[in-house]
Amino acid sequence: MLERKFPEGFLWGASTSAYQCEGAALEDGKMLSQQDVESSQYAKRTGFADASVTSDHYHRYKEDIRLFKELGMKSYRFSIAWSRIIPDGDGEINEKGVAYYRALIDECIANGIEPIVTLYHYDLPMALVEKYDGWISRQSVKDFERYARFVIETFKYKVKYWLTINEQSIIVQFWDRKNIVRDELKGNDQLRFQMNHHMNLAHAIACKLVHELVPGGKVGAALGYSPIYAASCKPQDAIAAMNAHDLKNSFYLDIYFKGHYNKAAFRYLEKNGLAPVIENGDMDIIRAGESDFLALNYYNSEAAKACPDDVARSWAGYNLTGKKGDMSGYETHPGFYQICKNPELDTTDWDWAIDPDGMEYILRDLYTRYNKPLMITENGLGAYDTLTEDGRVHDDARIDYIKKHLRAMYRAIDAGVEVISYNPWSAIDLLSTSNGYKKRYGLIYVDRTDDDVKELKRYPKDSYYWYQKVIATNGASIWED
Ligand code: BG6
Repeated sequence: MLERKFPEGFLWGASTSAYQCEGAALEDGKMLSQQDVESSQYAKRTGFADASVTSDHYHRYKEDIRLFKELGMKSYRFSIAWSRIIPDGDGEINEKGVAYYRALIDECIANGIEPIVTLYHYDLPMALVEKYDGWISRQSVKDFERYARFVIETFKYKVKYWLTINEQSIIVQFWDRKNIVRDELKGNDQLRFQMNHHMNLAHAIACKLVHELVPGGKVGAALGYSPIYAASCKPQDAIAAMNAHDLKNSFYLDIYFKGHYNKAAFRYLEKNGLAPVIENGDMDIIRAGESDFLALNYYNSEAAKACPDDVARSWAGYNLTGKKGDMSGYETHPGFYQICKNPELDTTDWDWAIDPDGMEYILRDLYTRYNKPLMITENGLGAYDTLTEDGRVHDDARIDYIKKHLRAMYRAIDAGVEVISYNPWSAIDLLSTSNGYKKRYGLIYVDRTDDDVKELKRYPKDSYYWYQKVIATNGASIWED
């Protein structure tokens, strides 16, 4: 039998984002980002950790990259914090912040690790929120362009793969957690889509900049993506699933790859007073910013069913307790769709459906629709982890999760889909956006809790050693039991 390996040069790696792992929130000239502020408010409400120290990657990146090298990582996907580079968002460049990312990128390269750089992962400089409500204002696009141009120009000979904006769809969904939104504006759902329109412009501008400035550079967005299945065989549920797919997925993808808004989704927004204001020339900017690939953050699938006209609109909920079944609610769009639990699938303790087959489904479906190479920039199991007395973490459930997703990814590759990389979430334990340090994703354990930062010592988990073999065999070992 043929050995079932991944393509030559496949970029095995892992992922992080700046505010979730760096810490040093106010060090070396950095000013607050909106996530520093948001996490500190959230910490007060929930008891989870804030973003001030997190996993201290800022000071320990060399130790971390040494562990990444031993793991065999070929790529490392991380983000740059705008508020380290231009602390107030639109003023002076902070040379110390630039020096940090230069050192981080050089350390990756010196260790044979390809840097995959995200320009924006939720952490707008707080000063821009205070000045003009952040992404709500069109001025954010201009300021982003200046920041992106500087970063791309600075690292153009070192970084080939660029990700523009992380998870626009999730930013729309959870807009007042991924942004700081004034109380007076919170009920105005149109602003979610206005912000998103500004991000579409920012994304397109960054794509164009990479193509203009980076020799051989490749660029795309990183989208939080779930396939949406019909809750039943009823045709009405199939149409609801299509509606949900249009509003939650195609609404972003059609912009990235076709340069226009998905019609059905846009009509729904117009009918409900939610559509963004589009100025003359905007769609030309969007069309000029071509993506080379799509980066996918895939954790779970969703199910949808028909929704009556006479219910209230609502957005996705949270599970704050880590007890299955405590999800606070599901998204509802009257007359369009409602998201519901899929009884066919088990979930994590935080109610995220576990669906390895969904990985094959999205890769094949997206490749058929857009015919562009795909990257996996996040995928992983959020779980409780325990450090045992022998200094190990026996995270069998995470190994099982990653193994099954990799097998599904292989099936998609075998069916002809072009997949460039796999960068699971997360390289090291870091601050979860919703559940602090209770919910962990890392291949490497970071010894701290929400209440006590301890010494932040690193311990490779069992999944680290398992993944090390996967990389060493270019994927062949995923078929062992
Ligand atoms: C993705 C984000 O949505 O999911 C990450 O890009 C995030 O920033 C990850 O950490 C997991 O979500 P959570 O809420 O469990 O941290």
